[in-house]
Amino acid sequence: MNPRSVLFVCLGNICRSPVAEGVFRRALVQRVGSDAALWTIDSAGTSDYHAGEAPDQRSQASALRHGVDISTLASRPFRPEDFEKFDHILVMDSSNHVNVSRLTENPSHLAKVRLVLDVSFPGENKPVPDPYYGGEHGFEQVFQLLAQASEDWLDQWA
Ligand code: 4NP
Repeated sequence: MNPRSVLFVCLGNICRSPVAEGVFRRALVQRVGSDAALWTIDSAGTSDYHAGEAPDQRSQASALRHGVDISTLASRPFRPEDFEKFDHILVMDSSNHVNVSRLTENPSHLAKVRLVLDVSFPGENKPVPDPYYGGEHGFEQVFQLLAQASEDWLDQWA
């Protein structure tokens, strides 16, 4: 497996994309061990509403229940230079897709932007539902969807 770089993107970078970052990193370590250090894995928001903040407590608790500690992550906004820095820009929903895509006209940048669940549900345009205004169940569902997608992306990239 060649070293790669992946950026996960949602709106606030406090609920969904930090979980994606944490669960993908764990799945990668389980597959490739110390070679995981050769990868760049990060997450960002299309907004700066929560810049500098740790993940939402409910995301932290949900991930930790599954043994994934995301408490040290901090929200940051997506930056245009991310198009160059990352091989893959995996967004949570179509609104994230629109917000990221409008920041470039470069076809090679646009080709990097994919819905994170496309790998698990090809052609369905399935979003990772925003759990921010909902209950516990939404956070568990986010975790499960992203855990499966992590395995599916790694199957594709292995
Ligand atoms: P996220 O969830 O995009 O998964 O981090 C949200 C976090 C904050 C807000 C919306 C969604 N907000 O409106 O502040």
